[in-house]
Amino acid sequence: MTLAHRSAGTPLPGVMHERIGGYALADVTFVQAFEADANKVGRDLADALRQAPTAAVHHLEVPPLGVVVQAGPALDGIAGRLAETVSVHPDCADVTAEDVTAALRGARADVLVCFLPTGATEAVHTYARACAAAGVAFVNATPELVANNPELSALFAERGVPLLGDDLRSHLGATTLHTALLELLMSRGLRVKDTYQLNVGGNTDFLNLSDPARSASKQASKRRALTSAGIDASEVAAGPNGYVKYLGDRKVCFLRIEAESILDAPVAMEVRLEVEDSPNAAAVIANAVRVAKSAADQGLTGVIDPVCAFLFKSPRVGLPESEGLSAFQGFVSRAAAAASAPEWHGHREARPLLASARQEVA
Ligand SMILES: NC(=O)c1ccc[n+]([C@@H]2O[C@H](COP(=O)([O-])OP(=O)(O)OC[C@H]3O[C@@H](n4cnc5c(N)ncnc54)[C@H](O)[C@@H]3O)[C@@H](O)[C@H]2O)c1
Repeated sequence: MTLAHRSAGTPLPGVMHERIGGYALADVTFVQAFEADANKVGRDLADALRQAPTAAVHHLEVPPLGVVVQAGPALDGIAGRLAETVSVHPDCADVTAEDVTAALRGARADVLVCFLPTGATEAVHTYARACAAAGVAFVNATPELVANNPELSALFAERGVPLLGDDLRSHLGATTLHTALLELLMSRGLRVKDTYQLNVGGNTDFLNLSDPARSASKQASKRRALTSAGIDASEVAAGPNGYVKYLGDRKVCFLRIEAESILDAPVAMEVRLEVEDSPNAAAVIANAVRVAKSAADQGLTGVIDPVCAFLFKSPRVGLPESEGLSAFQGFVSRAAAAASAPEWHGHREARPLLASARQEVA
């Protein structure tokens, strides 16, 4: 079923909650965007989304959003193999963290989602500090450590600002499938002997990750997720394993698990998972931005630990799959109760972005 054929009110596949903390997806509005790519800076956000080398498939006709993409501080954002295809906009050299803070304040942003390339530690930390200074909640989709960085997490707590991270866990991706299967085997008392998780893809994320100097934090993050699932992942091969350009935004994961059951009877499984990478992140972000805003409405500050095990690969406090889901659903229930309380004062502004996109398609 396509969006055009969907009748109003039908739940969208992959959207777990119509409302989180009182917010529908249609309440999410883009107010500011930062980029380093010379092809994207200066364009309306809707236009920038379509610019090469982005490989994302266009599922929707997005109308102009009225948000012009600004030059951000480039720092270590574009490096390695990315630098072969992306030119940094000249204005980036003059932009400071203070400019980012001022722009976020000016736009009255509530939440910033950080989708910088893996390995861009300095840039990620700069945006995080700018958000803490502006009082804007920070969602760290990258494996660069922010929630796990004691100094940065303390900064968000001091400033009274929510922080979510680290390293977005795709909605139904390799990590989630792998950890769910491990939990299934272990719940039946099987002993996991060995496993691997190999991933290939053809978008700029994989191009960037094909540089060993840029992929170390992603591999560490994947191992952290497997450790939280209850295995010794210190030597498990789990990571980005190659850039295959023709795959575009498709991502393919091959995983194998070998285990022993009663009487040492062997059990082995191999799974091939193929997903479209960008929508797989969008489904999690649909949860994360509303959680971040709801946390701010509730006066919660610093790392919002109860949701991070479900939404991220490297939460500060890791949990097996089912416990992470249950902690997340508990937060959503509390957020719903808070939003229905008479003193609730969230929902500052609402512009029905997705609703208007839907009308365009229909
Ligand atoms: N399914 C997913 O998309 C997914 C899931 C989990 C985690 N992540 C993580 O999210 C991060 C981004 O992934 P992606 O697929 O969106 O990558 P991407 O290559 O599509 O996007 C990164 C963007 O950041 C821009 N950029 C680089 N430096 C910048 C700077 N200093 N300031 C502003 N913009 C800058 C690049 O020009 C590019 O447009 C990666 O760390 C990735 O591992 C993505």
